[in-house]
Amino acid sequence: MKTVRYGIIGCGAIAQRRHIPEAVANSQSEVVAIADPVRGRAKKTAGPLGAAAYTDYKKMLKEQDLDAAVVCGPNKLHAPMTVDAFKAGLHVLVEKPMATTRAEGKRMLAASKQARKYLMVGMNQRLMPPHVKAKEVLDSGRVGKPITFETSFKHPGPDGWSVDGPKSWFFKKVPAVMGVTGDLGVHKADLMRWLLGEEFVLAGGVITTLDKRTEKGRLIPLDDNAFITLKTRSGVVGSMNISWTNYGGGDNGTTIFCSGGVIKIDKHPDFGVVVEYRNGEREFHQVGAMSTNTRQIPSGVIDSFTESILKRRKPAIDGMEGYRAMDVILTAMEAAKAGRFKKIAL
Ligand SMILES: NC(=O)c1ccc[n+]([C@@H]2O[C@H](COP(=O)([O-])OP(=O)(O)OC[C@H]3O[C@@H](n4cnc5c(N)ncnc54)[C@H](O)[C@@H]3O)[C@@H](O)[C@H]2O)c1
Repeated sequence: MKTVRYGIIGCGAIAQRRHIPEAVANSQSEVVAIADPVRGRAKKTAGPLGAAAYTDYKKMLKEQDLDAAVVCGPNKLHAPMTVDAFKAGLHVLVEKPMATTRAEGKRMLAASKQARKYLMVGMNQRLMPPHVKAKEVLDSGRVGKPITFETSFKHPGPDGWSVDGPKSWFFKKVPAVMGVTGDLGVHKADLMRWLLGEEFVLAGGVITTLDKRTEKGRLIPLDDNAFITLKTRSGVVGSMNISWTNYGGGDNGTTIFCSGGVIKIDKHPDFGVVVEYRNGEREFHQVGAMSTNTRQIPSGVIDSFTESILKRRKPAIDGMEGYRAMDVILTAMEAAKAGRFKKIAL
């Protein structure tokens, strides 16, 4: 195989702003077909690419000669779409959160195994240059061992991002299942597991709806803010502050407090990573920028998945990673509902 022939399922914001342009820019990737129930959107997106347009993704899977599917529909459809694509013999890149329940996640992992095809999850935070640099600093051991962390992921909400604006599925309970915790919390659960190099074993917090409203002025039926406390297996404790009500801006910063100093990620306007050592020395790293809702920077996800398929190498962020990150936020949501900390079963 010289190129990967992709079929896109759901051509909304993430497909149009990241996956499709990134596939077009990759000489070993091709977008062959696009499926979206909004006919005009599917046609308009497929037309300039010379790709086939479908309103029914199952028909696309049946008729097209594809190598891989990119699943970019609403959260609740990730599992059935992924399983259908595996049944059609394709590799699958599914957007985050991988699924909305552990049972769905397990079905997706089993389908991947049965089809002997790769499953990658679009948790692109790991690939962003400041996070890559921070991982390098942490893994070098020169700042010592992590003790605590604070991480945030906040923006004004998906009504300014989704192709359907405030009418979007993001604000509807059935297709979304989770609000900001599933949207941004899962990114940070994955990032922190990866940066710290270990699993979380305890979660708790307050997950609530404070201010985000539907276009009719009612509070959305999903969480818009999450204040989550997590503990790792080795005892690192940290907080994740996640929000859709950070009106007027964004915050994707992280601080990791270690035995030898502090690592600050995306806290300085010019330096993506700053290390403040215990002895007063400073290290400033100028690295590529972080992508935001208003500033699109190639995520590297399609490049990574295409390479994994062509070289027959396990995806950089595989299905099990997606499952673990989802498990962290599901446990945090259950804990918040119960009003007490909950253990994360590994
Ligand atoms: N990795 C990231 O950084 C990132 C960023 C944003 C969104 N996402 C994820 O991507 C997914 C899509 O989000 P989005 O921002 O593109 O939303 P969006 O609202 O902009 O687009 C969703 C699209 O899915 C289509 N759709 C609905 N039902 C479908 C079906 N049955 N078959 C095919 N298509 C269907 C809609 O018509 C719409 O075009 C979500 O899971 C979201 O969490 C990931």
